[in-house]
Amino acid sequence: MQIAIDGPASAGKSTIAKIIAQKLNYVYTDTGAMYRAVTLLAQQHQLAYDDEAQIVQLMSQTPISFRVLAGQQHIFLGTQDVTTAIRLPAISRNVSQVAALKKVREILVQQQQKIAQDANVVMDGRDIGTVVLPQADVKIFLIASVAERAQRRYRENLTRGITTSLSALQAEIKTRDYKDSHRTISPLRKASDAIEVDTTGLNIAQVVTKVMEIIQQKLNS
Ligand code: CDP
Ligand code: CDP
Repeated sequence: MQIAIDGPASAGKSTIAKIIAQKLNYVYTDTGAMYRAVTLLAQQHQLAYDDEAQIVQLMSQTPISFRVLAGQQHIFLGTQDVTTAIRLPAISRNVSQVAALKKVREILVQQQQKIAQDANVVMDGRDIGTVVLPQADVKIFLIASVAERAQRRYRENLTRGITTSLSALQAEIKTRDYKDSHRTISPLRKASDAIEVDTTGLNIAQVVTKVMEIIQQKLNS
């Protein structure tokens, strides 16, 4: 079973995907975390974010893996736990540039497809329904207004001890959405057979209920 959840930045994809995976007892895969980890790798080695050859070279020496520790999913770069580091604003600002690199995408897409081959998955990202799992059993496209998405990220940052301005967050989200939607390779777009769920004004529980209804309907049909 494959459930694909795509959508723009901060639409609630990972929050919802994680809860759905728990309910169904499927493996959850946060593909955005993988692009963020590669961006951190480039930053740690002071590489330019468009230096495809060097970034790919580093990726071959530093595998990305997911591990569940005390019930929480963590992401590792080699032996380094980078779960927190990949959420820093400097990574958010630069990840779209790294995610536009063809070879980086090829390597990560292959790894994502391998994960989905070996288990029932709920996978979230930008190109899951279109490129990574085009045959997914259920495809959800989550959206919400930019204002609400910035508010959500603002609150989330506060809980992590990161203070950001709301207007800067709105600008960052808009820029990232634009870059992700306009890149040449695997741009963010809704698959023709995906079901769009507008989460503006909905809390997490309400979105989970809606998405679970869609999944049940699809599975029963
Ligand atoms: O959580 P947030 O919406 O901030 O983003 P994310 O899911 O962590 O993804 C970070 C970035 O990785 C996105 O802005 C995209 O540039 C890239 N990404 C991608 O290109 N393809 C995916 N399947 C997932 C993420
Ligand atoms: O993965 P993506 O970037 O699409 O979003 P996320 O990281 O799951 O959600 C961004 C923030 O919005 C998190 O702090 C969620 O708790 C929050 N959220 C919310 O307040 N209401 C929702 N309906 C969905 C997410």
